[in-house]
Amino acid sequence: MSEDFSAAAAAFPAPFRLMVREASTSTNDDLRQLAEEGAKDGLVLLALRQTAGRGRRGAVWFSPPGESLAFSILLRPAEPKALWPRLALCAGLAVAEAIESFGPAAGIKWPNDVWIDGRKVAGILVEAGSGHVVVGIGLNVGARQFPAEIADVATSLRIETGIDFPAGEVLCAVIRRMAVRRKHLDASFGITIDAVRSRCVLSGHEVSFLTAAGPRSGIVEGIAPGGELLVREGPDVRKFMQADEIRILA
Ligand code: BTN
Repeated sequence: MSEDFSAAAAAFPAPFRLMVREASTSTNDDLRQLAEEGAKDGLVLLALRQTAGRGRRGAVWFSPPGESLAFSILLRPAEPKALWPRLALCAGLAVAEAIESFGPAAGIKWPNDVWIDGRKVAGILVEAGSGHVVVGIGLNVGARQFPAEIADVATSLRIETGIDFPAGEVLCAVIRRMAVRRKHLDASFGITIDAVRSRCVLSGHEVSFLTAAGPRSGIVEGIAPGGELLVREGPDVRKFMQADEIRILA
């Protein structure tokens, strides 16, 4: 994986700009600190080596150096805070669209895991602070194989296409799509939802998942206009804002 990101940074749309660190425990943590120190909207922090990457639900996220992009984007949305959770869907869509610009069709496992052909190629961790949102993205670019225990569920752009895409180009593609998608948080969020629905890998499937109130299961009917997952449980269709450990049963 190429580690020269200067050309990519030069092609970022305003206001996005790149800061590269040789090493970071977690780019989400480091960028949150920069945000608290006053960093402005659009700062992108990329780590060449991320030593304690975090996933959703407190999971560990591995980003093997040279094989996987680990970066975080600082946003200071002008929209009301109640709309910020929508950025999770915007980010998943931006990553899916960036991947598609390199060839493969991408699916979205609500809210924002990005899949190619049934396996996860990217994960996203969105964390809001006071006045800012950090969107952390881990994207498998150049990995040629994964450890046996995750080989069935993980993939990379290299595995799917046989091509070693320069990591900087992949990064730039994500930032360009994010620059577009972040603009549709409010009245035009329907544009985003339509694009997420067309890539939703859960629709029509029976799933099990965890909520704060306990385990649930049902058939996914789709995604509501506000971005919530719509699940049929017997005669009722319920909306879920949060659902973890979603498993496809059938
Ligand atoms: C998930 O699928 O569980 C989310 C994974 C998010 C990983 C990225 S890598 C860059 C950023 N820094 C972190 O510590 N996590 C995110």
